[in-house]
Amino acid sequence: MQGNWRVMKIIKSKRRLPSLPYFLSLIEWKAPSFSIYGPRVRRAVCVNDLAKIAKKRTPKVVFDYVDGSATYELAYKKSREAFDRVEIDTRVLQNVSNLDTSERILGKKVDLPILFAPTGYTRLMHHVGEPAVAQVSTEKNLIYGLSNMGTFSPEELVAAVPEGRKWFQLYVMQNREASMKIINQAKSAGFEALIMTVDTPVAGLRYRDMKNGLTIPPKIRLKTIFAIARKPIWWLNLFSTGKLEFASYRNWNRPLQELAGLIFDPAIALDDIKWLRSVWKGPIIIKGIQSVADAKDVSKLGIQGIIVSNHGGRQLDRGPIPLEILPEIVEAVGNKVEVYLDGGVMSGIDAAAAIALGAKAVFIGRAYLYGAMAYGQRGVEKVIEIMRSEFINTMALTGARTVADLRKKGAVIRK
Ligand code: LAC
Repeated sequence: MQGNWRVMKIIKSKRRLPSLPYFLSLIEWKAPSFSIYGPRVRRAVCVNDLAKIAKKRTPKVVFDYVDGSATYELAYKKSREAFDRVEIDTRVLQNVSNLDTSERILGKKVDLPILFAPTGYTRLMHHVGEPAVAQVSTEKNLIYGLSNMGTFSPEELVAAVPEGRKWFQLYVMQNREASMKIINQAKSAGFEALIMTVDTPVAGLRYRDMKNGLTIPPKIRLKTIFAIARKPIWWLNLFSTGKLEFASYRNWNRPLQELAGLIFDPAIALDDIKWLRSVWKGPIIIKGIQSVADAKDVSKLGIQGIIVSNHGGRQLDRGPIPLEILPEIVEAVGNKVEVYLDGGVMSGIDAAAAIALGAKAVFIGRAYLYGAMAYGQRGVEKVIEIMRSEFINTMALTGARTVADLRKKGAVIRK
């Protein structure tokens, strides 16, 4: 063989004089853009880009409240990493020219199986607060969860955003009268369902918040004021748009610290779900399920849905990872109740992964708050648009024409 080697023939381009018209044709002449988004938000291609803008625009204490989780933040990190290890069963040649991203949630259609989780204190992230998110949810035909720790009450939210599906998240307290008062507010405001959060018998230990001097409920100390003063626009927006407080407890006239002790109730138990079932006729969704046993127990109580969730890693830092336990939970109770997932969903690809592992839909929290902190309502809209195109792209590339197709395919989480 050796004897056959010879010097290779070198291929060369044919040269000509540099062409000016060709050079000019490559230049992109752009008219000034009048996009609804600010330039940096317009250029954002993924949620992470918006998180970076959010970090620049908000005081550290605020960004950390959203971005941070409990103690060493391992549960959150592991929840995120689990998404990275998913491989969705993929088929090609499926004619994916017409995709349907809609799904039926509690019997009614949503345009995308990515819904808005309740998040506390939204006016802290952007002065418009909860209505900015609810408006996007309404326009995109999704569902918005209003937090019990929200800065808008159910009636205030409905006054600001009358249309659209709204669920109210509730911490059931032993003080039934107090719980009833809030439930009645949600009822008279026409909320469709209650989300009962069950993973907060006590508050999570959020080291970042403790170090930054933010408490739940937040207290603004001298140190905090200095930190906030470095972002004067955020500060001005807040001061010029009314008092920042927990809306559900506005007229209570008690120290907020005392209230926190009531809201996070260590005595919470299965009986509280039974009680809630007896006083609320509409759908009930139990949020914060982290075991098959609990999923089975709560599913016997006449509830309609569960959210497999570790509260975005903001409560227990050594619990199971929602995505990893999801398939077993779906297998156990998926024929009785709708099984949703939250915690670390940062893209439409993550959403597709959870659905391929059996979820009916996913909820996002941090993701839309990054958008809100970056650019208010437009930022939230941008997040949903990014996630929607990622979701569609993933459906097409895995060969799923519908959300049901995607769920049927399945996926594995590599160890
Ligand atoms: C939190 C509570 C409010 O995660 O749900 O901050």
